[in-house]
Amino acid sequence: MQTDQLLNLFINHKNEWLSGNELASKLSISRTMIWKLIRNLKQSGHQIESKKNAGYKYIGSNNFDRLLIQKNLHVPFDVQTFNEVDSTNTYAKKLLSQNKIADPMVIVADKQTAGHGRRGREFYSPKDTGIYMSMVLPIKDNEVFDGGLITTMTAVATVHGLKQSYPNVNFQLKWVNDIYVNNKKVSGILTESVMDVELMHPSALIIGIGINLNSNHFPKNMGRPIGAISDNKVDKNKVVTDILNEFYKLYPNYQKGEFMDEYRDLSMLINHQVQIETHRALITGKVVDFDHHGRLILDDGNETKSIMTGEVVKVHF
Ligand code: BTN
Repeated sequence: MQTDQLLNLFINHKNEWLSGNELASKLSISRTMIWKLIRNLKQSGHQIESKKNAGYKYIGSNNFDRLLIQKNLHVPFDVQTFNEVDSTNTYAKKLLSQNKIADPMVIVADKQTAGHGRRGREFYSPKDTGIYMSMVLPIKDNEVFDGGLITTMTAVATVHGLKQSYPNVNFQLKWVNDIYVNNKKVSGILTESVMDVELMHPSALIIGIGINLNSNHFPKNMGRPIGAISDNKVDKNKVVTDILNEFYKLYPNYQKGEFMDEYRDLSMLINHQVQIETHRALITGKVVDFDHHGRLILDDGNETKSIMTGEVVKVHF
C-alpha cells in the first residue's frame, strides 16, 4: 500500500526534512499523490511538519500504529492496532474462536469500553492516556505451560520494557503481577487460556496488559489506589515494542524461573504483613519469599504456607 510505503520512508528518516520531489521520485508517484497520502497519515494521528522549500518532516504518532510498533520489533508478532475496542482480551478470544492462530500476535488499543481485570473487575481504560494490549500465544499440542511463572515473568518483562522509557521511575510488583509506582497501581495483567474443546488441551494463551501512562483522573470507586506512571510524555508505540521485545527475551526459558530473583527484588511485599484472599479463606501473615514457581511463601505465625493463587487485599507498611 502506498500509505505504508510512505510511512516506512518517513520512519526511516524520522526528524529529517524530505522534499516533496524526493518522496515522489522514491515512491514513483506524483507530488499531488504524496500530498494526499500525507493528508491521510495526518488524519490517522501522525505528526508531520511541512515547510516551504524544505518539504516534510516526520515527528511521530499520537496513535498506535502497526508499522511503528513493528519497526524495532525483534520478535515474530503480528500486530493489530485499534483506536477503540471493547477489550483487547475479548477481541483476542473472538479471533481465536474463528481461526487457529499459528504465530504470536498482539492487539493494541488506545481505549477500551469494557476493559476488565482479574475477578471480573473493571479495568478503567480511557482514551489517549494508556496502553491496553493483549498478546496471543499459540500453545503446541504437547506443550505444558506454567500459569504461576508466566504471570510473574510477564510482570518482570513489562517492568523491563517500561524502564526504557522511564529510567528514573521506581516500579514495584505486588504479587502476582500488579505493577505499582508510589504505592499506586499503574498496571495490571490478566492471563487467560483458551481451550481446544476437541483436544481438551489449551490452544492459546492471552496475556492482557493494561498500563496507565499519564491519566490522573480515575473514578473514585476502584477499590484500591490507582495512579499513572508519570506526566512525562513518552512514545507509546516504542513502549509497546520494548515490552514485546523484553517479553520474548524471557519467554523461551520462562519455565526455568531464572527471573524470580529479579521478581523478588521488585516485590513490594517481602517482609511485610499482608492479608490474602484465596478462594477458600482470608489468610494473614508475613511474606517471606516467592518460590521458583511464583508461589508466595507466607509465615502465618505458626507455619510457613506456600500460596499458588490469591489476591493480596491488604499490605501493612
Ligand atoms: C487486573 O488488574 O486485574 C488485570 C488488568 C488487565 C487489564 C488489561 S488491559 C488489556 C487487556 N484487556 C482487558 O480487558 N484486560 C486486559
